[in-house]
Amino acid sequence: FIAEIDASDTEKGTYPHFMLKEIDEQPIVMRNIIREYQDEKGELKLDKDIRKAMQKADRIYIIAAGTSYHAGLVGKEFLEKLSNIPVEVHVASEFSYNMPLLSEKPLFIFISQSGETADSRAVLVKIKELGHPALTLTNVPGSTLSREANYTLPLHAGPEIAVASTKAYTAQIAVLAVLAVDTARAKGIKLDFDPLQELAIVANAMEVITNQKEELEQLARDYFAITRNAFYIGRSTDYHVAQEAALKLKEISYIQAEGFAGGELKHGTIALIEDGTPVIALTTQENVNYSIRGNVQEVVARGAHALIISSKGLEQDGDAFVLPPVHELLTPLVSVIPMQLLAYYAALHRDCDVDKPRNLAKSVTVE
Ligand code: G6P
Repeated sequence: FIAEIDASDTEKGTYPHFMLKEIDEQPIVMRNIIREYQDEKGELKLDKDIRKAMQKADRIYIIAAGTSYHAGLVGKEFLEKLSNIPVEVHVASEFSYNMPLLSEKPLFIFISQSGETADSRAVLVKIKELGHPALTLTNVPGSTLSREANYTLPLHAGPEIAVASTKAYTAQIAVLAVLAVDTARAKGIKLDFDPLQELAIVANAMEVITNQKEELEQLARDYFAITRNAFYIGRSTDYHVAQEAALKLKEISYIQAEGFAGGELKHGTIALIEDGTPVIALTTQENVNYSIRGNVQEVVARGAHALIISSKGLEQDGDAFVLPPVHELLTPLVSVIPMQLLAYYAALHRDCDVDKPRNLAKSVTVE
């Protein structure tokens, strides 16, 4: 049944909701990206002008909103760790009114599923006036942000209909990984990381998780059926996914949710933990596995109902869900999948309108 999905389809088919269909399409989207970003020899292929612009830049400014902003936070890690360029990630609506000091040769990367977000466009207009180059990562080539930027990298995710973004987020992260590796190679940095091969492993891992819907539905029932709030915690890359996980839950189930850096919870927010408060902890990075588990103990001691999602190899007895192994840099691509499904089932069991949550629009064309 999964094999029949076509990521370019705008019909729900046998799916009850677009969101569930789009979650299931993510392995296909990863394979689309692998295909679109390789040449006949199977080598990574990217527009030469984009490569030159990336090589010239002394600092990258990523500008985005919502889920795309969260993808930017993950992308910063690839660009800094692989291609050695300093990166700042900014919420578009803030950047316009409070512009930071810019470097001498900045390159702006706009990340936008729709390519129409007015907050991001306002920044694009400003930086163009200043004469700085811009690259747009979007699912809609030909959109405003794509037309007005100097360069475009398409996401190849196919139409995303559900208001809550899922496959565009993972596509953005995958394309940012490709961009980071291409830039590193152009700069002569030797890498022990083949993004196309690693993304193929990710696609398979995603499939393993989307086949575990029953377990995730049960967890959503156990943790989110009646709660009014929930906390997601993670450290390092997992912190970024915790933020996206919280946004997903808020958007469609209306449960008040926040994503925190594991170590920061104790500096205030832990005061909100009561008997039964759900705390979802994510651990996929070896260097923080021990410390995030310490944070879980702190909240459990205060009555939290903790759920741990860990990567294979870091798992311990009692973890609720174990993620199949992928390259440590790419774990957000798989760790976000159970988060999306938990949010989906939470919304479903709370009788919320999954695809069209109240007060939200798929693309926000006003500032
Ligand atoms: C809206 C949507 C979000 C999305 C954000 C940015 O608020 O409801 O799901 O993340 O816009 O959209 P973009 O199209 O720029 O990625």
